Amino acid sequence: MDEHLPLAAQKASQDDQDYEEQAHFHQVCRSYQQYATFHQTIWQGVSHRVHKLLGGSHGRRHNNSTASCGRTGPTVASILPAQLTSGTPENQAMGKEFCNATIRNQFFLDTVLRYSGKSDSCFHLMFYNCVPTSQEVLRETQQNSRRIDWVTEDQLSKVDSVLKSVARDWSMEGRAERGVIYERMLIALERYLPLDEKADPKRVAVPGSGLGRLAWEIHAKGYTVQGSDFSLPMLLASDFILNGCAIPDDNTNSSNGASGHRQFNISPWIAETKNVTSFENRIRSVTVPDVDPSSIQDQCHGVGEPPQFSMMAGEFLALYSHFLPEHQNCSHDHKQNSEKFHAIACSFFLDTAPSLPEYLITIYHMLEEGGILLHFGPLMYHWSGHGALIPKDLVGNTSMDDANGRYMSRNAYLDPRYLSNVDFTWEEVRQMIVNTGFEIVEEEMKIPALYTSNPNSMMEVSYKCVFLVARKKSR
Ligand SMILES: C[S@@+](CC[C@H](N)C(=O)[O-])C[C@H]1O[C@@H](n2cnc3c(N)ncnc32)[C@H](O)[C@@H]1O
Repeated sequence: MDEHLPLAAQKASQDDQDYEEQAHFHQVCRSYQQYATFHQTIWQGVSHRVHKLLGGSHGRRHNNSTASCGRTGPTVASILPAQLTSGTPENQAMGKEFCNATIRNQFFLDTVLRYSGKSDSCFHLMFYNCVPTSQEVLRETQQNSRRIDWVTEDQLSKVDSVLKSVARDWSMEGRAERGVIYERMLIALERYLPLDEKADPKRVAVPGSGLGRLAWEIHAKGYTVQGSDFSLPMLLASDFILNGCAIPDDNTNSSNGASGHRQFNISPWIAETKNVTSFENRIRSVTVPDVDPSSIQDQCHGVGEPPQFSMMAGEFLALYSHFLPEHQNCSHDHKQNSEKFHAIACSFFLDTAPSLPEYLITIYHMLEEGGILLHFGPLMYHWSGHGALIPKDLVGNTSMDDANGRYMSRNAYLDPRYLSNVDFTWEEVRQMIVNTGFEIVEEEMKIPALYTSNPNSMMEVSYKCVFLVARKKSR
């Protein structure tokens, strides 16, 4: 597997950018390192709330005072299940199991971090091999009485999302969820872009590839694949799963049927506290990865070039804008990345666009004539829902530009992408796809699909997705 992973770096102001990238990388590492500590602290906080509940007006205190008045009946203390009452054996056992679940997850996250510092990781050269694990950080902090630079809850929630995405893409439990999408994509690819053993493999881009399973599945069929994503928490984990789980040959015990790749038990749903059926379901673990990601490394495909696999780190438009005609003559780093694609497979990706028309135009120029766009997903619009124009913005203003200026400064604390986002209907998206220069060859509506769902939760968000196959017309 090609582990080449260039950042979408522009040469201008390279130092500043390097510094920002490093700072971001270290912040993401801290969120990985602090995972178990955060969740154990959250657990302590909830235990304390329960404790206070027992001392509240309907708890022990009330019970004591009413006892003297002769009042009997249920109290908070008497109705709480034993496992919630501090000090009971059941409570201690539950706390221990929760703690073990956080340690399971931390072990996985630490292994990811440790791998990112290794020479075969894509991140090694970029970040100077300096990624300590949670234990190393703790030890170093204690020894030097250093102040800990805690991450925010928001940053931690990204690590929770990574664990759920790992379960979606790389566990047996995620198979049904991802199958609905990835199977459709693979069938359509083979139908509209059949492999030709006598030719070089067809090139497929998978933008917003998340944990990389779709990209990997397409590569496993024999296509050259370039996945990409801009989320560092996701990229660290996908780099590890795709490249770091193989056991070196001399450590593999094939004679006793042992698996040829490392597997981990993770508990992806421990952060969920609502709609939980039972404590056991909250800490339930899944085994990842369910397949050996390195198993397709040396496959032989026909007489042409062997299919390549690569992952790019960067924002989609920044990574691929060099395909736009207006950027064709610019000198840039993308020479080796300027070959057009035969297909672009977007799973739950188009609605991440801060500007959907720009995504579509870029996709159009990334494709060869006759190339295929595959889209599966809802229209959740990631940059939607914050900051709308309100009547106050219009008061006393004569022009919309003035009103917009007021609106922009009122919302200056928001990422500007929220302020320029437009939520298009599917009809409008479809029309734009056609207007860009595609013919629609397949379209299916209302396909039920889940996204990182917990099969045991009492709540399930099912999207009614669109699956679309469109072909770039010849000019
Ligand atoms: C909803 S997830 C879908 C992940 C994966 N395709 C799947 O179906 O499981 C969207 C992915 O796109 C990535 N993403 C969002 N906006 C992006 C952008 N502008 N450039 C690159 N990646 C982006 C996110 O980091 C995330 O991994």
